[in-house]
Amino acid sequence: MVDNNSSSNSPAENQNANPDGNLPSESGNTTIDALAHKVQESLSLSKRHKFWETQPVGQFKDLGDASLPEGPIEPPTPLSEVKQEPYNLPNLYEWVTCDMDSEETCNEVYNLLTNNYVEDDENMFRFNYSKEFLRWALCPPGYFRSWHIGVRVKSSKKLVAFITGVPAKIRARDTVVNMAEINFLCVHKKLRSKRLAPVMIKEVTRRVHLENIWQAAYTAGVILPTPVSTCQYWHRSLNPKKLIDVGFSRLGARMTMSRTIKLYKLPDSTVTPGFRKMELHDVPAVTRLLRNYLSQFIVAPDFDENDVEHWLLPKENVVDSYLVESPETHEINDFCSFYTLPSSILGNQNYSTLKAAYSYYNVSTKTPLLQLMNDALIVAKRNDYDVFNALDVMQNESFLKELKFGPGDGELHYYLYNYRINRVLRPSELGLVLL
Ligand SMILES: CC(C)(COP(=O)(O)OP(=O)(O)OC[C@H]1O[C@@H](n2cnc3c(N)ncnc32)[C@H](O)[C@@H]1OP(=O)(O)O)[C@@H](O)C(=O)NCCC(=O)NCCS
Repeated sequence: MVDNNSSSNSPAENQNANPDGNLPSESGNTTIDALAHKVQESLSLSKRHKFWETQPVGQFKDLGDASLPEGPIEPPTPLSEVKQEPYNLPNLYEWVTCDMDSEETCNEVYNLLTNNYVEDDENMFRFNYSKEFLRWALCPPGYFRSWHIGVRVKSSKKLVAFITGVPAKIRARDTVVNMAEINFLCVHKKLRSKRLAPVMIKEVTRRVHLENIWQAAYTAGVILPTPVSTCQYWHRSLNPKKLIDVGFSRLGARMTMSRTIKLYKLPDSTVTPGFRKMELHDVPAVTRLLRNYLSQFIVAPDFDENDVEHWLLPKENVVDSYLVESPETHEINDFCSFYTLPSSILGNQNYSTLKAAYSYYNVSTKTPLLQLMNDALIVAKRNDYDVFNALDVMQNESFLKELKFGPGDGELHYYLYNYRINRVLRPSELGLVLL
């Protein structure tokens, strides 16, 4: 996920594309030398990571050092040596394990995230993961309840921070590694900058270690030591008028609203014969198709049938999957999917929610990927999504421009904890989408 320093995950398109936004501004009588010094100082300060420098992650100083071996940075410690008690929190707060099956707890998590989770740079939009989505994202096969971690105020019991992990098998080159996927790190707005996040990260790490798992994968909009890959979001307008009205996108130069609406218009029905929604009985075929497809990427999940059933079987307002069943042979050769992640629109008179689809896993073997994704856009439009987002991972670059996606203004960085990949990967070498 991204944080509010970057709008990469959140849906602001072409906003504030000023890469120098963090540099100190020039004041009247500053000499060039002093300015250069200030810039240097601010850069070196901003590059120090008091917490992350202590963790087994690739460090900036090691970038490009091909002599370092790929694989775990530190060996596992004996389980008996893993700290048995939780890390200390500031006195007013306590740890809780969040039971996502409890309607009440799920509501509390939902409210914390709805009000405090990721926003774009300009604070116009905030992710609004639904409760069903959170349950789906947090309770896959083999999940650990102990990895759904909350922080409450002792006196009032108010939930003020959250972090989660779910287990996943992730392949890096030829090695399948048991990992935790870490997500939903959130600290209440009133408790920011108090170094609570490092304690939460250490606590989830401890609980992951207790299950004898020593690696993790995560994404963020901020640069931390050290990205495995840096990706970009692209956005395809489905409801351009609304997107422009709420400030998500702007009318292009020399464009009128009606020309823009025409530009993004899609047919009412899909074009590929045999294109239909995935069903339970498709799980074995989809698993075979997807496993084969993902094997070409350097880092990708190692899905089995249970994973595919959980992550890809359509779930209303959470995840949608379509496939192409050959009308002649009934073979399944193509597949596409997207998940539903709305954003709250902050402070707009007319609209409160932006309905966004996020491209998930897509496989084309017979139907051209461009045609398959055009059909995905058509079903998303038919189901009232306002925008279809996709990262430039896997083979997505091959359809983005042609299908009228526009580049977003932020970046999404992928990270591995305690696992070194000895060079930075291109987005097209990544076969992993985290929620
Ligand atoms: C992300 C968030 C929890 C960080 O909390 P904070 O109060 O701003 O920061 P803290 O003082 O507690 O901790 C700062 C440390 O956390 C690290 N950190 C900040 N955001 C991080 C992230 N997304 N992932 C991992 N580490 C992160 C910082 O780099 C810093 O460590 P460093 O000194 O080694 O660089 C908080 O800003 C937040 O809830 N933001 C909105 C939701 C969000 O963006 N979540 C992250 C999605 S990836």
